[in-house]
Amino acid sequence: MKMFKILSTVFVFSLLFILAACGTSQTSGSTKSDAKKTLRVVTDAAYAPFEYQDKGEVVGFDIDFIKAVAKEAGYNVKVDNVGWDPLFVEIKGKTADIGLSAITINDERKQTYDFSTPYFLSKNEILVPKNSDIKNAQDLKGKTVAVQNGTTGQDAVEALLGKNSDKLKKFENNNLAIMELKSGGANAVVADNTVVEQYVKNNPQDNLKVIEDDTAFNKEFYGLMFAKGSTLKADFDKAITKVLDNGTYAKLYKQWFKVDPDIKILKE
Ligand code: ARG
Repeated sequence: MKMFKILSTVFVFSLLFILAACGTSQTSGSTKSDAKKTLRVVTDAAYAPFEYQDKGEVVGFDIDFIKAVAKEAGYNVKVDNVGWDPLFVEIKGKTADIGLSAITINDERKQTYDFSTPYFLSKNEILVPKNSDIKNAQDLKGKTVAVQNGTTGQDAVEALLGKNSDKLKKFENNNLAIMELKSGGANAVVADNTVVEQYVKNNPQDNLKVIEDDTAFNKEFYGLMFAKGSTLKADFDKAITKVLDNGTYAKLYKQWFKVDPDIKILKE
């Protein structure tokens, strides 16, 4: 009987020991999160409300979005404002991990880069002075149009004015294109709808308005941009699907745009 007691005590203690060991190995598993890999994210922070500078900090919907997605995927992120053209150079040259900049997924870019699953629906729109005689995209013909260099806005205007039109003025960032419009150096700016609409709303003193034209401007989807073959794509696709499904995306979207997102269209 005594022997049995001793044996069972030994048994219970070894069981406790094994459980404790499992426990520690689990904690050491989660302390791994302290050593999470930090990814370098590059952006052009001159595209409010997606990415812009506020009191020396880069903020915007895209920034909140990447933080949520990276957290889900198990990474830390550091966002660097490098500018639009350099961003592409850095992703191609693999000096940065993710391009985040309201970047439209299109066939031309897909030849050189990999994209995540879509996270935002967009289209180009025309920004003009309130008293402009421009009523639609066709009216841009013969006018001087300012765009950000290397954007889908440039592609759209080239399709209307011709590729080497001297009436197309290209700028390093979209804010410079808008400044050109305000100073009278251009008759219109073509850029993403959310950006120009917010500009008009936030700057009533500028007396500008936007014109939609679905016959000239197609639906576009933004994606995170990776170097071709990046292994990050799989992790981030999974994480994006998760934040779309668990309400995090809708919460951020509502915070920034005051309306509910159409999540279904992102999954088509
Ligand atoms: N969506 C457009 C494109 O991909 C414009 C993006 C410009 N983004 C920016 N952060 N400046 O061409």
